[in-house]
Amino acid sequence: MTQTRSTPQSDDPARVAAFEARIAAGESIEPKDWMPDKYRRQLIRMMSQHAHSEIVGMLPEGNWITRAPSLRRKIALIAKVQDEAGHGLYIYCGTETLGVDRGELIQQLLDGTAKYSSIFNYPTLSWADIGVIGWFVDGAAIVNQTILAKASYGPYARAMVRVCKEENFHKRQGYEIVATLANGTPAQKAMVQDAVNRWWWPSLMMFGPSDTDSPNTAELIRWKVKRKTNDELRQRFVNLTVPQAAAVQLTLPDPSLAYDATSENWHFGPIDWDEFTQVIRGNGPCNRERLEARRKAHDDGAWVREAAAVHAAKQRAASAAA
Ligand code: 3HC
Repeated sequence: MTQTRSTPQSDDPARVAAFEARIAAGESIEPKDWMPDKYRRQLIRMMSQHAHSEIVGMLPEGNWITRAPSLRRKIALIAKVQDEAGHGLYIYCGTETLGVDRGELIQQLLDGTAKYSSIFNYPTLSWADIGVIGWFVDGAAIVNQTILAKASYGPYARAMVRVCKEENFHKRQGYEIVATLANGTPAQKAMVQDAVNRWWWPSLMMFGPSDTDSPNTAELIRWKVKRKTNDELRQRFVNLTVPQAAAVQLTLPDPSLAYDATSENWHFGPIDWDEFTQVIRGNGPCNRERLEARRKAHDDGAWVREAAAVHAAKQRAASAAA
């Protein structure tokens, strides 16, 4: 369990009431402000998992950098994967403002005790997957993160502003790949339709369990960390994506999809929550492979961390002697 700086008098009713009043007034909570322990713990949980997701999310796409079909596609994919690393480091920084140590969080990921987004436990079987990931996964991230940019915790909300700007490039480059393949040879069209079929339902699962099954959403909404519920965000993603699929003549793998003119929503079929549960329990197609890759990268990078620590110690000694 992450050791965090505990908040004095965290159960002090007067302090909690004052905190709740600040949230209700739409104020931004900053690192040095008093906050209930549970608010701090919720943010550490959510932000650390977000950061882990960004780092693990580099793996499925990185797998295709050496096989990109052109220099232009390769450059865009390298830039995207590099962005994801930056998002992870950025959000780890935000998490550390809550009094936790990044090393501890990363160790939890390596130990397999920390969650990261289920979506990154699926394999990237063809180049079309890279396009569909940009379109669906980064598209879903944009839906989620543009709302998180209004979160009550200042450092998280501000981090999302920069992250979302880069996600928009990620989605556009993905959708361009998809449109190119969808308008290409029959084999290319079949390849991208196959990728759509494989990534659609796992992308809907990214938004978490339904609101009735989410143990965290009600509290996070009350504290204005989440400004929309899982189901509201999922519905917004579906509403945005259905017309985009039609625009490139691709079929989403849901025969139940139907437009409701009254609510202006696209109704969609049932999600396989058993699959979701299995994936977040570590039994997805690539969970083991992803953690092995992260552990190897961490071990291979030990010398960099040691060198940086020696350099930092020398810098401190030099400034102390000056
Ligand atoms: N994958 C893995 N675990 C998930 C999950 C998913 N898709 N959805 C929910 N869970 C877990 C939650 O972590 C929680 O477990 P915990 O209590 O042990 O932490 C449990 O399932 C119940 O779910 P809740 O809905 O109650 O949990 P949250 O309120 O935290 O909502 C969330 C889940 C919507 C993912 C929310 O945490 C969130 O918005 N997080 C910030 C955004 C984020 O992490 N996105 C992940 C993708 S990152 C990404 O897309 C990178 C981009 O560059 C591609």
